Amino acid sequence: MPKKKLPAGTRESLLRSARKAMKNAYAPFSRFKVGAAILTSKGDVFLGCNVENSSYGMTNCAERTAIFSAVAEKGPGLEILAVAVTNAQGVPCSPCGACRQVIYEFGPHAVIFYQGKNGWTESPITDLLPEGFRLK
Ligand code: THU
Repeated sequence: MPKKKLPAGTRESLLRSARKAMKNAYAPFSRFKVGAAILTSKGDVFLGCNVENSSYGMTNCAERTAIFSAVAEKGPGLEILAVAVTNAQGVPCSPCGACRQVIYEFGPHAVIFYQGKNGWTESPITDLLPEGFRLK
């Protein structure tokens, strides 16, 4: 299915929101602060930051924080149209494998804005996660 047309300025406003969320990151172990913002088909924007833990594996990435927060507030019917990811170091940072699968669950047609190896990049989630897993 073709991706939906995003409103003009979506990328810039989502990146701005992601940078704002990044300030709340709890990253004392990696010192790598990440922010994420997601846009839903209803036009709502949800923010997330990474939240680390002394038990390192319990860490939650910024992208999943934003998505879980959206589901908690709006319920499971939401559709993600776009995700923006920023980091405080200004280095390439695309969503990790776990986050790609979670984005795909709620946004199989979503586009992702992130800093890639060759600068700011826009990729459909299906390019980042071909053959994403689905139970239904
Ligand atoms: N991290 C994110 O929050 N999102 C990403 O896309 C990549 C990695 C976090 C997890 C951890 O807190 C820190 O960055 C270093 O891996």
